[in-house]
Amino acid sequence: MTYEEIVKRARELMGPNCRVCPVCDGRACRGEIPGLGGMGSGSSFTVCRPFLDSVKLMMDVVYESAPIDTSIELFGKSWPFPFFMAPLGGMGLNYNDAITEEEWSAMSVGAMAECGSLAFTPDGAKDEFFELSIRSITANGGIGIPTIKPWGEEMLTRRIRAAEHAGVTAVSCDVDSCNHPNMRRLADPPRVLTPRVMKRVVESTSLPFVAKGIMTAPAALRCADAGCYGIVVSTHGGRVIEDAPAPCSMLPEIRAAVGDRMKIFVDGGIRSGRDVFKCLALGADAVLIGRPYVVAGVGGGREGIVLYTRKILDELRDTMLMTGCTTLADITPDKIRLTN
Ligand SMILES: Cc1cc2nc3c(=O)[nH]c(=O)nc-3n(C[C@H](O)[C@H](O)[C@H](O)COP(=O)(O)O)c2cc1C
Repeated sequence: MTYEEIVKRARELMGPNCRVCPVCDGRACRGEIPGLGGMGSGSSFTVCRPFLDSVKLMMDVVYESAPIDTSIELFGKSWPFPFFMAPLGGMGLNYNDAITEEEWSAMSVGAMAECGSLAFTPDGAKDEFFELSIRSITANGGIGIPTIKPWGEEMLTRRIRAAEHAGVTAVSCDVDSCNHPNMRRLADPPRVLTPRVMKRVVESTSLPFVAKGIMTAPAALRCADAGCYGIVVSTHGGRVIEDAPAPCSMLPEIRAAVGDRMKIFVDGGIRSGRDVFKCLALGADAVLIGRPYVVAGVGGGREGIVLYTRKILDELRDTMLMTGCTTLADITPDKIRLTN
């Protein structure tokens, strides 16, 4: 199976909700929620590609070469590369049943574990969606990070207890879900998580806690003060706000504010190993990739996800080779140039 074959098959299966564009940039699906787009004008999604394309790589091929090492320490473990699968829920609603929730959960968590990596998994309004995540993670020896919506302290805490019981790697909360179009219509929708509740929730668990959906340095500092292990700089793929900047463009100022107090993940429009490299140079420890993983899974099954992961890793390695980086620590801001 080749990546081209995966894309071709995905294109046959994913319409009309996903057109499987040559570059998944949010232009064709603007405003389509349910669907794959960004909210409203889609601007918080479409802004990502132009920003990442404007970051240029500084070639340097005169250096003491050594075997390239892409490994990273996170959550008290070593991982072979610095990218993970983003949580992706609502397969029926968003992907027009191209794959069932259950198939996606088992396939995505299993494929990422097979690569030695992990998937952040989604949550949903019904208990069964969360339970699906927990079941898939349990089937893979606890490798995975359930991402729980900010339902309110009682429910959030209850789901964290279930995650602890399953022995998961860490736990995450997509705090930006408080304005998700698919959630707003619920009787009891996700809500804004206050710093005080966040601190209580974080202190209630020994699991590393990652707040997903952080876009400013002050918010990042509040997460650090609450004891978070890390944050995901993200706008939920542009699905919860219009006219936000590209998450990766916020990395330098967020990193400058938090220093080494927390791990910084980022997502939004990351589509190649070069993009992974650029995000690390901008200040991220690691990145999440979302929509393209569904294309890989629908078009190629578990094997498609593994193949796509290898493709991104190969591109990251090539970029490191051509920029004089043999470890991730070498990927510093001077390895890139911002051109606008
Ligand atoms: C169809 C779809 C479903 C998503 N479901 C979730 C979810 O359940 N929880 C969550 O935290 N983020 C969710 N996200 C956001 C992704 O985790 C990620 O932040 C976003 O897609 C940005 O990455 P990308 O541009 O690589 O897709 C979803 C995104 C999409 C497109």
